[in-house]
Amino acid sequence: MSRHYTVLDPRLEGAKKMLSSVSRIIAVMSSKGGVGKTLFSAVFASIASRKGFRVGLLDLDITNPGLHVVLGIDPLSIQPGEEKGITPVSISRLEFMSTVFYTRDNPSPMRGTSVDNAIREVLAATRWSRLDILVVDTAPGLSDVAISTLEYFPGVEVVVVATPSRLSINSIEKLLKLLSEMKYKKYLVENMSSGNLLVDLARKYHTVYLGSIDYYREVEEYIGDIEKLVSSRFGRSVEEIANKIL
Ligand SMILES: Nc1ncnc2c1ncn2[C@@H]1O[C@H](COP(=O)(O)OP(=O)(O)O)[C@@H](O)[C@H]1O
Ligand SMILES: [Mg+2]
Repeated sequence: MSRHYTVLDPRLEGAKKMLSSVSRIIAVMSSKGGVGKTLFSAVFASIASRKGFRVGLLDLDITNPGLHVVLGIDPLSIQPGEEKGITPVSISRLEFMSTVFYTRDNPSPMRGTSVDNAIREVLAATRWSRLDILVVDTAPGLSDVAISTLEYFPGVEVVVVATPSRLSINSIEKLLKLLSEMKYKKYLVENMSSGNLLVDLARKYHTVYLGSIDYYREVEEYIGDIEKLVSSRFGRSVEEIANKIL
């Protein structure tokens, strides 16, 4: 795996051009599913846009996109525009792009190369405005989406979301190790936790520890209403974290 484009593919050249209007790319990653990446990505992006940054939000969990659910978007009633490429959907002060607009929320099983191809297509076609930050939500694990994310986004910074369970810690350690070895700028967010239990783990892998978010039972009720999520206790915790990196 390389940080540079190794395969000659005009789509990757296109992707570079399309991303040249973006100042900062923040990918939200984890080695586990269900740790809160999607929820964090949506709320973090919304908070950044409320602070006056121009923010894009991209769902790269190609086979299991979920950001539209958190944002409360019905992918059947709204479509990205087309003008020399695809124009992301403007929603609650964000530019939002997801493959769900094309699968129309139908199942989209894909294996390796197809996932990578879908990502290349999305990156080559999506025409972002001039953005301060592009937040990228990813799929769990160290497979297709993770590898493509680390390879195709120039200067990408990685926010690793983790829960403090022992099963999670073992796998997070491998992700942090990989990111360290490859010299990515990285941060750790501890989610659904009642303490700062992952501080030492972050330190061990030279990762900036951004803080811990409690488990808030009301979150479930607010999914689909981004305004409520932003002003909830979850949102206030994300804001404290956001203040450290924005
Ligand atoms: N801090 C939290 N408090 C309560 N529920 C949470 C919290 N973080 C995430 N969740 C819930 O956990 C589930 C998984 O979150 P999700 O963002 O889909 O994880 P991932 O994208 O990592 O798979 C969702 O139902 C989400 O609402
Ligand atoms: Mg997710």
